[in-house]
Amino acid sequence: LHMKGRGSLSKCLQKVDTFLHRTIGTNVVAVKEEREGCKSLYGVQAERQEQAERSVLISCHSRTNEKNFLKYLSRHGDINKYFFYESYGMYAVVEFANRESLASLLEEAAIPSTSHESMVPFKSRLLTLRNLGSADVPNQQSGQQCQPQTTIPINELIQRLAREETIEQQITSLTDVYQLTEENSRLRFLVCSLLKDIAAAYFPECTINPFGSSVNGFGKLGCDLDMFLDVDDISGRNAKMPKSGLWLEYQMKRASSERAVTQSLLSVIGDCVDQFGPGCVGVQKILNARCPLVRFAHQPSGFQCDLTANNRVAMKSTELLYLYGELDPRVRHLVFTVRCWARAHGITSSIPGAWITNFSLTVMVLFFLQRRSPPIIPTLDHLRDLADPRDKSVIEGNDCTFVSDFSKIQLLSNTETLEKLLCEFFEFYSTFAFNRMSISIRKGKEQNKPEVAPLHIQNPFETSLNVSKNVNATQLDRFVALCQESSWLLQQSDTNTPRGGNAEKATTPWGLATLLMPSQVAGIKGRKKRRREPASERIKSLLESLKNTNQHKKS
Ligand code: GTP
Ligand code: MG
Repeated sequence: LHMKGRGSLSKCLQKVDTFLHRTIGTNVVAVKEEREGCKSLYGVQAERQEQAERSVLISCHSRTNEKNFLKYLSRHGDINKYFFYESYGMYAVVEFANRESLASLLEEAAIPSTSHESMVPFKSRLLTLRNLGSADVPNQQSGQQCQPQTTIPINELIQRLAREETIEQQITSLTDVYQLTEENSRLRFLVCSLLKDIAAAYFPECTINPFGSSVNGFGKLGCDLDMFLDVDDISGRNAKMPKSGLWLEYQMKRASSERAVTQSLLSVIGDCVDQFGPGCVGVQKILNARCPLVRFAHQPSGFQCDLTANNRVAMKSTELLYLYGELDPRVRHLVFTVRCWARAHGITSSIPGAWITNFSLTVMVLFFLQRRSPPIIPTLDHLRDLADPRDKSVIEGNDCTFVSDFSKIQLLSNTETLEKLLCEFFEFYSTFAFNRMSISIRKGKEQNKPEVAPLHIQNPFETSLNVSKNVNATQLDRFVALCQESSWLLQQSDTNTPRGGNAEKATTPWGLATLLMPSQVAGIKGRKKRRREPASERIKSLLESLKNTNQHKKS
């Protein structure tokens, strides 16, 4: 339901919505009752986690015969699901129907023997399939299909979008290409589960769950894997004291602060990952950050991993973003498009710095959707008002309460198209009073800026904090200039309609594809410089550059 079903339910709702709007001029509030069927993020996570615990990751030879492979493994029990992928070699993820099969498989696995090196004797569910027989022989038919774990390069995406018939189709196509696949999502949970096995050597009851874009619905293939090590149940914080009589409690070591506990936990687990974790390389302990973390690369999956602990607010933000993405399909489409556009123009970056982050950008899209008339999504304050007593959540003094039952959320009737929304998004931020106003999805209204930072986006749960504190004036200016340019481009008939005949259409970027191409204003240093240049000159040079790019592509 999370990956496939959720998409199809959303698509289905969108189609019904459009149909009803066209035929009887009404919206589909009643049909949205279907949201009752949507799983909460916790439901999705529990299911994926359980699947991951029945799974193994196997490095195999690229000429491994699929039939032989399955025959060999199914001697241990039924296989629910398997797939192959490539990441510095061929790998397979195999999910057994029962845990007993896994135990039987691991029982049979041998310790590798080498004459020159020694092995750290930590056994995990990361295995290698060896074959002394026929499968390693050249000319053997491989037969297996590899599932892609990274997305296509931007140039290919531009070509693909150029072939679409409408901007609406371009936006949905971009989401289809970029979003995490079912297989990639499984692999993310499996890596968390493998890591949990390492942490469980110290804390047998701990869990490691993905958060951030791996699970919030806005993840792009290839995005980092944010992990949350949860040892809360062990620390006894949630234990209930009896009212009277005898009871026992654990004696535990005391530390000066929660932060100090988090740091020492991550330090020890980080060392284990570094020294015992198969496939984990480049381990860095970044313990003095606001949110302490251990960063490393998990080679067999190709994921860049960030392991954090005691990061409950981030988990709540993830849950909130997931909820917004589930409410209306336009939310995810717009976030994917804006994130991709921002990356193409270097507004966001994988290197930390004064750039706008994907998280800030997502909050900006949500805020814009709350400002539509009527609003497409409700404010966080409204979601808090709909909450049950059991939804109550206070983390380090911050009220993180919001409704978990999706069916309680009534949406208003807004039928704006994705094309219109994209254009309006750029227009909205082209003229937003960033110098005076703060963006708040809690209130759904701009607020007076409480501090002087160029861009102020209120942290939804720690409301006195600014999530875009790192952004400097230059980066904000670039963002505004690019919004102005994109808004202008989308209003030109030259760019907002497909060009020429079929043959030409295949190579001539138009619509969204044009917006992803190198910009004329991307290099500007500040607003003042741009203002000195007459608008007509900018537009002329922009059209020239588009023509040149097209000619270059055709030649
Ligand atoms: P990617 O760029 O695709 O990794 O997006 P992401 O949403 O995973 O962002 P990132 O890896 O930077 O952060 C992971 C999660 O941490 C986010 O989804 C948020 O839930 C949370 N987070 C990130 N940055 C901030 C911030 O500045 N403030 C708060 N409160 N939470 C943040
Ligand atoms: Mg992330």
